[in-house]
Amino acid sequence: MSATVVPIKDEWKANALLSQDTYREWYERSVSDPDGFWGEHGRRIDWIRPFQRVKNTSFAPGAVSIRWFEDGTLNVSANCIDRHLAERGDQVAILWEGDDPKDSRAITYRELHGEVCRMANVLKARGVKRGDRVTLYMPMIPEAAYAMLACARIGAIHSVVFGGFSPDALAGRLEGASSSVLVTADEGYRGGRTVPLKANVDRAVEIAARAGHGVETVLVVRRSGGAVGFQEGRDIWWHEAREGASPECEPEEMGAEDPLFILYTSGSTGKPKGVLHSSGGYLVYASMTHQYVFGYRPGDIYWCTADVGWVTGHSYIVYGPLANGATTLMFEGVPNYPDQSRFWQVIDKHKVNIFYTAPTAIRALMGAGDEPVKATSRKSLRVLASVGEPINPEAWNWYYKVVGEERCPVMDTWWQTETGGILITPLPGATDLKPGSATLPFFGVKPQIVDNEGRVLDGAVDGNLCIVDSWPGQMRTVYGDHERFEQTYFSTYENKYFTGDGARRDEDGYYWITGRVDDVINVSGHRMGTAEVESSLVAHEKVSEAAVVGYPHDIKGQGIYCYVTLMEGVEPTDELRKALVAHVRQDIGAIASPDKIQFAPGLPKTRSGKIMRRILRKIAEDDFAALGDTSTLADPGVVDDLVDNRQNKR
Ligand code: WTA
Repeated sequence: MSATVVPIKDEWKANALLSQDTYREWYERSVSDPDGFWGEHGRRIDWIRPFQRVKNTSFAPGAVSIRWFEDGTLNVSANCIDRHLAERGDQVAILWEGDDPKDSRAITYRELHGEVCRMANVLKARGVKRGDRVTLYMPMIPEAAYAMLACARIGAIHSVVFGGFSPDALAGRLEGASSSVLVTADEGYRGGRTVPLKANVDRAVEIAARAGHGVETVLVVRRSGGAVGFQEGRDIWWHEAREGASPECEPEEMGAEDPLFILYTSGSTGKPKGVLHSSGGYLVYASMTHQYVFGYRPGDIYWCTADVGWVTGHSYIVYGPLANGATTLMFEGVPNYPDQSRFWQVIDKHKVNIFYTAPTAIRALMGAGDEPVKATSRKSLRVLASVGEPINPEAWNWYYKVVGEERCPVMDTWWQTETGGILITPLPGATDLKPGSATLPFFGVKPQIVDNEGRVLDGAVDGNLCIVDSWPGQMRTVYGDHERFEQTYFSTYENKYFTGDGARRDEDGYYWITGRVDDVINVSGHRMGTAEVESSLVAHEKVSEAAVVGYPHDIKGQGIYCYVTLMEGVEPTDELRKALVAHVRQDIGAIASPDKIQFAPGLPKTRSGKIMRRILRKIAEDDFAALGDTSTLADPGVVDDLVDNRQNKR
């Protein structure tokens, strides 16, 4: 089967930063001479003390170590702000669009400098020092970026927790990072409704305190003005503290390998891991990918619709664009509020040139028909991009044809929290496109496809996606647990970073990401470990056992399907089903809401007691013909019961 090809158009070539030939030349050099290549491109950012050593990395078993530009020193916030002041101090750095279409703000680089310094000084006055962890639980407002950059300025490590997570989840992350300082807002706004951030923080701090973890400072930004609890001594209002704070703060000189941030992400086992990123390599990689993947040119208005609670918000709302002196649009709201045309209205309002969103949003908007799109002009657009999950060719084509009117190339960017920046992607005007394919590796990235035994597969094949050498944006460790880092990413296949994704490589060497091959599911582009949802379910008093799998969902990509075995004598009712959904939402957050709960008197297990998820996945997909051999199960009858039960449901 040969896929459709959308060849590079002449207009795209005219706008391209690199030609197809230059991409190939640079790529060859980047993998054959990484020291030479990154030694040059590492200089794209400002160093206080220039690095001498470029790459010092090893994926060797028991000795995984990743260091880039290790003897260089820099400050990330100075790179994102100060170095632009002379040339573009009055240019807008952050263009903020509120949830309410009447609300917007423009913050210039000079203003950003003042605000970040003030916040840095407020944090310092509360005793925050180099290496301390500061937790951010913020809505999508400029102060979220100020807080990240303020931490970077004084050498503190930020840990942003997505505002949709529950107090329990927030408490776990506060403890995990031993963080005693929190930055939040009174309430956030999303789609016309408020999100009780401060109330959640108050509960999280209580939960953490019960576990013996103290929080000393909560810096609160006033967003809604709604009434919130306030604990004197611990809580401080940003607008009050700001008044007395100096708008100057000398940036700390940090080592390239000093940590910049921790970001918790879900894996296939256990609790979420604190993915740790460094300062120098991360910034070089985020800024370089931002420039080349989006074909960014000075003066462009660039919009990434992610939330700063996810890695996309870190690398492609804050660090990459600001390091490049871009105008980055930050959107507080949701795609369908006040109506289905909002994204396209914002594009017209701010003359957006580059637009980066997620397949789940594209599919949802596609479902609303072409009219809301066609009601707008979108003439300013030059490049469209997508991230978070595989984009199906139908959604790709709609994005390309209806949104972009075939004028804009679509960049399907594949990457992960762990990778810090984009690894597999087309470049505008330099890559022929194929709808549904993330296409080719970025500079310095060496993908490999292996079978389940780790044998390297050449040519056009399907298998497990690994990366065989380091790139500067790679995560450095799991915070506080280097052994878990090695175990999770480097033990499945020796000497390779294993991504957890499956991929196919076609006859042109293009990569097609097929989705996770581990127990991680991707719901609306949000990563969720099935183990997390399971442990929440079994914590409920009426549940004895639970198994959670993903199943195909038209809008979300994947939905959450839960098989639940109840305690002896408990009646399986619809009320209980609702109670369990509410329980998981409260425990983890709305993003973990089960879509389907099937009560299961028993779960299919091997004779050694291992739950056969492969079978559960097939049942959830209604793919009863593919159940395979069930005769080796401890009790094969269990599968028939589950299938009957499922079929009767429909
Ligand atoms: C998936 C988000 C297919 C993949 C930046 C990966 C994708 C996980 C794509 C990481 C894409 C991301 N095509 N799948 N273009 N982009 N993924 O850590 O399964 O939230 O492993 O990082 O999302 O999700 P994470």
